[in-house]
Amino acid sequence: MLKVAVIYGGMSTEHDVSIVSGKNVMENLDKNKYEIYPLMITKDGKWLDKREREIKDVFKLLKQMDVVFPVLHGLYGEDGTLQGMLEMAKVPYVGCKVLSSSICMDKVYTKIIFEKAGIPQAKYIYIKDENIYVDENFDEIKLENDEIVKLVEEKIGFPVFVKPSNSGSSVGVSKAKDGVELIKALSDASVYDKKVLIEEAIIGKEVECAVLGNRDIKASTVGEINSAEDFYSYDAKYINKASKVTIPANLSNEKIEEIRKLAIKAFKAVDGSGLSRVDFFVQQGTEKVYINEINTLPGFTEISMYPKLWDYSGISYTELLTDLIELSKKM
Ligand SMILES: Nc1ncnc2c1ncn2[C@@H]1O[C@H](COP(=O)(O)OP(=O)(O)O)[C@@H](O)[C@H]1O
Ligand SMILES: [Mg+2]
Repeated sequence: MLKVAVIYGGMSTEHDVSIVSGKNVMENLDKNKYEIYPLMITKDGKWLDKREREIKDVFKLLKQMDVVFPVLHGLYGEDGTLQGMLEMAKVPYVGCKVLSSSICMDKVYTKIIFEKAGIPQAKYIYIKDENIYVDENFDEIKLENDEIVKLVEEKIGFPVFVKPSNSGSSVGVSKAKDGVELIKALSDASVYDKKVLIEEAIIGKEVECAVLGNRDIKASTVGEINSAEDFYSYDAKYINKASKVTIPANLSNEKIEEIRKLAIKAFKAVDGSGLSRVDFFVQQGTEKVYINEINTLPGFTEISMYPKLWDYSGISYTELLTDLIELSKKM
């Protein structure tokens, strides 16, 4: 039997979602193959064992495992920090390594890579420390509020989406239709990160594709988000029960193929391994595909898109977890 530690909870804003994902992963792991060690990280960073006793020497424990399965979302879990610790412990782990995890956690740097790879995406600019504009050459220019508004009008055009560069679950994300809303949105987003992304709003469908593999990468079919609110906000994701997903997405086979190819290309561009969920928009009218982001540790709840997409493609939840563990040992 392989000793598999499942790490869940965590110190990010997505602690609660991760608990649901983690429990679900543990329920579905093949008990004939794996001996499970639940490790729950509290919001303030304590590591607890299955009897909820604090673990004194986490590092020593991790070194005794055959595989670690991080089921953490957001900072200190999905962003390369935990992955760095697991590298130091020399223990195989499921999912993306340090570099790809940290690139994908940072929306600005993800954009820079997508740009380099020629993957179509929404127009954007970014602001640092509330009013410093960082231009294409990474030169920093201090701007007044009205100058930021003018820049957005020139380079993007309203409406725009404003988001903290490092975040998840739509925390700190808002849509701004004019300068007044933009300034408020910037200050709301800067609570979560000193880097803030301002992006062209793409009106249309929101769709997601699951990828699986290290060198030989598979893409699932494409699923569609039917958000209960104007956009897929925190409420629309976790609270408003009227949000739904449709698998496969209501798109032509050609569009689905185009998205699957782009998902694999994007995953390779960020040097991904193991798994990711790659999110896109399909613009109404033009049917043009824009990449939005890559989630290196997507939700693993019963209703989450990632396992559902594979289920549709013929890989059950339990088989999927076995595949992920096998892939982690092949790195
Ligand atoms: N450029 C955009 N155009 C249209 N909707 C967007 C755009 N950016 C974000 N959104 C909406 O906001 C939600 C959250 O943004 P996202 O970039 O996915 O951040 P998170 O990492 O928090 O999921 C998306 O699921 C989508 O509904
Ligand atoms: Mg998202």
